[in-house]
Amino acid sequence: MSERMNSETLRKLYLDFFKSKGHAVIPTASLIPENDPTVLFTTAGMHPLVPYLLGEKHPAGDKLTDVQICVRTGDIDEVGDESHCTFFEMLGNWSLGAYFKKESIAYSYEFLTKVLGIDTTKLNVSVFAGDESCPRDNESAEIWKSVGLKDEQIFFLPKENNWWGPAGQTGPCGPDTEMFIDTGKDKCSDDCSPACSCGKYLEIWNNVFMQYFKDSDGKLSPMERKNVDTGMGLERTLCIVNGYKSVYETDLLAFSIKKLEELSGKKYGENEDDTRAMRIIADHTRTATFLLGDVKPLSPSNVDQGYVLRRLIRRAVRYCRVLGIDGSALIELAKLNIEKYKDIYKNIGDNAQRIEDELRMEQEKFDKTIEQGINEFGKVVKHIPSTTIPGKTAFRLYDTFGFPLEMTIELAKEVGFDVDVQGYEEAFKKHQELSKAGAEQKFKGGLADTGEVTARLHTATHLLNAALKIVLNDKTIMQRGSNITPERLRFDFSFPRPMTPEEIQAVEDLVNEEIKKNQDVILEEMSVAEAKAQGAVGVFDSKYGEVVKVYTVGISKEICGGPHAKNTSELGHFKIVKEQSSSAGVRRIKAILENNQ
Ligand code: SER
Repeated sequence: MSERMNSETLRKLYLDFFKSKGHAVIPTASLIPENDPTVLFTTAGMHPLVPYLLGEKHPAGDKLTDVQICVRTGDIDEVGDESHCTFFEMLGNWSLGAYFKKESIAYSYEFLTKVLGIDTTKLNVSVFAGDESCPRDNESAEIWKSVGLKDEQIFFLPKENNWWGPAGQTGPCGPDTEMFIDTGKDKCSDDCSPACSCGKYLEIWNNVFMQYFKDSDGKLSPMERKNVDTGMGLERTLCIVNGYKSVYETDLLAFSIKKLEELSGKKYGENEDDTRAMRIIADHTRTATFLLGDVKPLSPSNVDQGYVLRRLIRRAVRYCRVLGIDGSALIELAKLNIEKYKDIYKNIGDNAQRIEDELRMEQEKFDKTIEQGINEFGKVVKHIPSTTIPGKTAFRLYDTFGFPLEMTIELAKEVGFDVDVQGYEEAFKKHQELSKAGAEQKFKGGLADTGEVTARLHTATHLLNAALKIVLNDKTIMQRGSNITPERLRFDFSFPRPMTPEEIQAVEDLVNEEIKKNQDVILEEMSVAEAKAQGAVGVFDSKYGEVVKVYTVGISKEICGGPHAKNTSELGHFKIVKEQSSSAGVRRIKAILENNQ
């Protein structure tokens, strides 16, 4: 095994290996999935490839390889241990009908043993044991034997261990074969197998034989073409190859730990609580850096992905307190992450300023509320007759002070209390239903009234959205909300600073120029892919069905439900009446159409 392999080397070895086997190297995709409302983040390399796994032709060919950035927050409570991260990079290779089990297993074996130099005797694999939906995978077991594995290195395991996917609730999936490294530890029991989490077997790679499609009723149907999807975690593999104890020793996280040691004057590994805190801060800050700097940049908010981001930042700030350091440590760490990753992920370098600004805004905001919240928590604890914090109280701490539930649980633990989690979840669900109703309203186009007056304001909103991107010369500007009443339009968009009076005037002028051209508003129906190809914008793209309506008016092209004016001549004179902050990183414009009645 090579000593001290770093991430740059491993990425290159992997991609070069699969290039030498005829695979095209494709770029990583956004962390925010396109057109998949069932999951918040890209959780695996296959996720952005779903359309191609389902039969669409990939422009780069039928053998692909890449390094995909992924976020998984399902395991967030495990973060702080030796191997769980909320962000990681996944090395992957795919066959879109080009090859299947035989080549896939042979490639994996060659890469692990010849390129990474892993001892064959340390390699263990699992294959699918079979059930009523899919037969036992003897074929894979035979292939493993043919490359040199012994019977005792092959484990047949059930669906809960040897089946992968889909990434969301529906999509391609299938039986897999997983590869593990035997650490040499004793078996924890006679039944100990790679399915066991005792630490004897460490998973290194997963090859999925994607043969089925799972629909929304949970039904599996065989796919016409058989594909291969593989995934290998970069951090975990570095850890195994280098013989490290945890992923925090790899070159992707060690610099963060070192900085936290410097800032806190504490030593990593000496005290369990401090070590856990350092790991959580390092992990969450790295994830936040990638979400804030994504090609579709996120901002902290109270819904969907933005809420997860807020929770990660706030949890990291909270653990800074555990470590006895200021929350501004996050900005120091983000800077180091930007340096580390900017050459590999250009968007991280391009968004460096945004990442720092957003982190600082959220951290400062949280610091203010945290003091109030901790005081409030102290009062609450005094008045509770039992040692259980009621769910409603926990929800109020979240809603008013921004305390994630787990933070309340942690604070409670410190004073020997627990929290009524179920009660909290009920209160949270009620809140979500309310915001869902709000989202459905937005989905309808943000219209509160569908009369002609509001339709004209709606068309003006599209022109405004396009004009902002042009005048502010910022293609990353995204719609964050829209609300229209018969009197005015209100438009929220991502932008880090107030607009200058000159910029406001220029936007107003550009919209009025477009209006004066007396242009028709053109409605077309097309697929989401076609709309994207034509450069249409649309914040709610993932919530639409296959065919979408695209409205084109002068400088604007948007996916939208309508309705709209027929011609810009109906609009009259456009006037911005207010430009203000809506929330961190989001500006709000209120505008009217003079003579619109
Ligand atoms: N999709 C599989 C996984 O995530 C293999 O890439 O493990």
